[in-house]
Formats: sequence, structure tokens, C-alpha cells
Amino acid sequence: MNTQIKLLGISGSLRKGSYNTSLLKAASQLLPQDVSMDTFYLGDIPLYNADLDKPSASQRPPVVQEFRDMMTKADGLVICSPEYNYGIPGLLKNAIDWASRGEDSPLIGKPVAVMGATISLWGTVRMQLVFQNIFLYLNMKPVYKPEVLIAQAGNKFDDKGNLTDSTSLDLVRKKLEALKKLILHEREALVS
Ligand SMILES: Cc1cc2nc3c(=O)[nH]c(=O)nc-3n(C[C@H](O)[C@H](O)[C@H](O)COP(=O)(O)O)c2cc1C
Repeated sequence: MNTQIKLLGISGSLRKGSYNTSLLKAASQLLPQDVSMDTFYLGDIPLYNADLDKPSASQRPPVVQEFRDMMTKADGLVICSPEYNYGIPGLLKNAIDWASRGEDSPLIGKPVAVMGATISLWGTVRMQLVFQNIFLYLNMKPVYKPEVLIAQAGNKFDDKGNLTDSTSLDLVRKKLEALKKLILHEREALVS
């Protein structure tokens, strides 16, 4: 059985000094053996409009189709996102909406790990809970444990955006290991 795994990482924040983009960078440096990760910048994805969401790949906005194609090629997703108003940031929800439509949706059944960082105390737990409804609807396969909830992010990253908190680093490493295990398990189930 092929043991190479490709992930796609996305950040739910567009700002330059984003803790969540830094968290994604940390994840890319903590990948388990035989796992690689590409990232996709969500800032160019237009607002969802069903009139532009044609069933044929050649008719969708090119950047949307590129995003969907990268998800299709990935064995699993890594989402690092802030919590906005106790929920999923609009730009991230919008991108998920674009990827969720049609029988060829790359999200259906996809393994996924969500992590988050916030400057405040609750570590994005409410945003991560909102994701559960999306996972249910799309039959996605979330890795629940360990939870990566980085609170008071200003104390956990250095000035250059490196994640320096050893507990957080350990949790990210374990989360990625758990995602790898789930993907291999799913792959095994397919061939047996
Ligand atoms: C529109 C908006 C809503 C926010 N709502 C929350 C919230 O509900 N919970 C929370 O912990 N932080 C909230 N924050 C603060 C973010 O956690 C903080 O800005 C964080 O650094 C953003 O992530 P980033 O560094 O990756 O951009 C909010 C920030 C913005 C801009």
C-alpha cells in the first residue's frame, strides 16, 4: 500500500502577521514521515454566487476550480483559523461553500484536522464546534484529538511568527500524526 500522504493547508486569516498562518507554517515543519503539505491562499476566492457555480469544471471561476482541484489531490486537509464572533471567519466559510457543491465536491468524506489560535482565552473552541455541522453535512472525517486550541497567542509565538510554546508544538505534532493515521486507515479500508 502507498504510504505517501499529501495534505492541503489553509489559513482562515489573510492578515500578514496572522497567528493562524504562522500556526500553519509550524504544522508544515512538524509533518510526520512520508507526509507533505501544500498550502492555498484564500484571499483571491470570490464571494459565493450560485450563478457562477456551474457543474462543469471549465465553467467555475478559475481560482475556485484551482482550489477544488488542489483539495481533490490532497488526502486530507489542515485548517488553521481564528474565531470571528464565536464562529468561522466569513472568508473561510465562503471558500468551504465553494468547495462543497456538486457531486464532485472534494470535501465529501475528506479527512480533516482543524486547529486555531486566538489572542484571547478560549482558543477558538467555539469556531471549532461550528465546524462540526459542516463535517456532518459533508460526511467529512475530522480528527478530534488532540485538540489544538492556542489561547493568548501573543505568548506562544515569537516576533517572527515562530510557534515557540512547547506544549502547543507537541499538540500540533500529535494532531498531524493522528491525521496521518486516519488517512492510512481510510486507505486500508478502501483496498480491503
Ligand atoms: C471580526 C473579528 C471577530 C473576532 N471574534 C473573536 C471571537 O469570537 N473569539 C476570539 O477568541 N477572538 C476573536 N477575535 C480576535 C481574534 O482571535 C484575533 O484577532 C486573532 O489574532 C485573529 O487571528 P489571526 O492572528 O490569525 O489573524 C476577533 C477578531 C476579529 C477581527
